[in-house]
Amino acid sequence: MEKRQELYAGKAKSVFYTDDPDKMVLVFRDDTSAFDGKKVEQLDRKGMVNNKFNAFIMSKLQEAGIPTHFEALLSDTECLVKRLDMMPVECVVRNIAAGSLCRRLGVEEGLELNPPTFELFLKDDALGDPMINESHVTTFGWAAPEHLQKAKELTYQVNDVLKALFLNGGMLLVDYKLEFGLFNGQVVLGDEFSPDGCRLWDSQTKEKLDKDRFRQGLGSVIESYEEVGRRLGIDFNV
Ligand code: TMP
Ligand code: ASP
Repeated sequence: MEKRQELYAGKAKSVFYTDDPDKMVLVFRDDTSAFDGKKVEQLDRKGMVNNKFNAFIMSKLQEAGIPTHFEALLSDTECLVKRLDMMPVECVVRNIAAGSLCRRLGVEEGLELNPPTFELFLKDDALGDPMINESHVTTFGWAAPEHLQKAKELTYQVNDVLKALFLNGGMLLVDYKLEFGLFNGQVVLGDEFSPDGCRLWDSQTKEKLDKDRFRQGLGSVIESYEEVGRRLGIDFNV
């Protein structure tokens, strides 16, 4: 497999073509952004930590029967993935109230959400990733109704797998964002799963261990990501 020219540079990752039209290389950079790119910093080791974290989680999801784009780790900061036709939609499940839900609905942070909520956001920084609903997705052609339904089903399945995984490591999966795409007509999980795109709290102390440390200027951002990984049994030194 040969890495070729860059297709796209996102806020935290870059995507490269390969000599195989069905495969891409993802490069995890140290860039860390929040508030739709308004706050950006370089955090040492972040690319490596998120790349290995993502590989671990994607493998666990695949073992649980959830189709993902992940193929293989290539280096500390690179992995090989299937080339998906991405839906420009973010699927968010919340088990506990935090972040924009609290701002929008005035509910208290920490409120248990039973059943968990499912929300959709349009992936558009210029518009501030606005919240949308299923009819918008169909009307504007962002995804076919059956593909959106499948993405929703998979998003809930991920919740069952990952809630248990994190709880085993003494953590609460508060909420998370997933992105999906199509590969040969099949809905497949794409993008990444890392503490950049979810909220994780220590189950006893409720200490924040995810990107809210960066958003809220709490410090020890990557140290916390590594702590989450250590609790799951990830070895960042191999
Ligand atoms: P929110 O509380 O800001 O709506 O975010 C909910 C969860 O989804 C949180 O874990 C962060 C994640 N998320 C992203 O990573 N990127 C996004 O663009 C959005 C809207 C949410
Ligand atoms: N919207 C996401 C966040 O605030 C990602 C970003 O804008 O960089 O975390």
